[in-house]
Amino acid sequence: MILKNDLLLRAAKGEYTERIPVWLMRQAGRILPEYRAVRASLSGFKELVETPERAAEVTIQPVDILGVDAAIIFSDILVVAEGMGLTYEMEEKKGPFFPKTIESIEDIKKLRIGTAENDFGYTIEAIRITKKVLDGRVPLIGFAGAPFTLLCYMVEGGGSKTFSKSKKLLFSESAAAHLLLQKITDSTIDYLKGQVAAGADLVQVFDSWAGILSPQAYEEFSIPYLKQIADAIDNVPVTLFGKGAFFARKSMAELNCQVLGTDWNMDPKETRQIVGPNITLQGNLDPCVLYGSHQFIEEQTNSMIKSFGSQRYIANLGHGVYPDTDPLKVKHFVETVQSFDIRTLN
Ligand code: CP3
Repeated sequence: MILKNDLLLRAAKGEYTERIPVWLMRQAGRILPEYRAVRASLSGFKELVETPERAAEVTIQPVDILGVDAAIIFSDILVVAEGMGLTYEMEEKKGPFFPKTIESIEDIKKLRIGTAENDFGYTIEAIRITKKVLDGRVPLIGFAGAPFTLLCYMVEGGGSKTFSKSKKLLFSESAAAHLLLQKITDSTIDYLKGQVAAGADLVQVFDSWAGILSPQAYEEFSIPYLKQIADAIDNVPVTLFGKGAFFARKSMAELNCQVLGTDWNMDPKETRQIVGPNITLQGNLDPCVLYGSHQFIEEQTNSMIKSFGSQRYIANLGHGVYPDTDPLKVKHFVETVQSFDIRTLN
């Protein structure tokens, strides 16, 4: 199907864009009252993720309401763990947790390799429905968590301040850690390939906990698995986003990916210098800027754009939008990017 708005894809592929494409990480859910209404009509988050028609509906809401240049499929990075046999639960206000966590190599051996067909069918079907309903208005982004970030959730059982259980596994039982990372990687590759086959136009891998590792540990425990994923996806652009992974920008950009996601700690000009001209950058406004006035949002957004430049660039936040952000402020951010006249840049 021909896309009516393919700015995101052209930017990802390094083609000319007459204006800068914009979307927000975590735009589906979290901020929209319309999303909460759909969720309230079901038993909760998990049922919504597992009901393809409704997941498609909340995927499209931000396109209709916020006017973003891409949709991202409504799901969660934790579905991969569940597809491998480790069930998660979502507690209102508290976030996700795993009632049973990975504690030993025996636990890891018991996990299966999840497949798109058998274990992630609901998201694959949600992608098919979303593509049909979107009817080419904007591209659809598929996604998964990076193996390292998934390992953290599966070992900790939820978020953590220190991630000491995860790091204990890496540093005291590295063979077990690598076995788990490989199983997650194999599951993720099948899942992402299934998403692309179902119609995802681009895929993003979220390494949300990248920043807790040293550069050396990141090279050992995350990069090789991101490499396998990037190498396995060949028909659509791949975005790699490592939150806090300023030290790994060069290694990540050297993988077989077309877009590098950046957070607000990473200076745009410095990032461009590090990664060179042949990759698209995405990011990186501090989500908290959206608590500021409309004028503040405009100033910060315009200054961000000037640092990134108008080409090989996808405007976004530096991490997911926070749940208590006013949707009108989000809309103002989107409109500020979309009305930026790129002819004013050299
Ligand atoms: O981007 C999108 O809007 C698409 C949907 C999406 C969700 N989760 C839906 C969701 C995406 C891309 C994710 C990714 C995700 N999930 C990440 C990586 C990105 C990041 O922010 O670092 C992580 C670490 C998770 C794990 C997770 N899921 C947490 C920590 C939480 C609780 C806190 C919160 O509000 O996000 C979730 C729940 C979740 N996933 C919600 C949504 C809309 C909120 C549930 C609800 O209140 O209905």
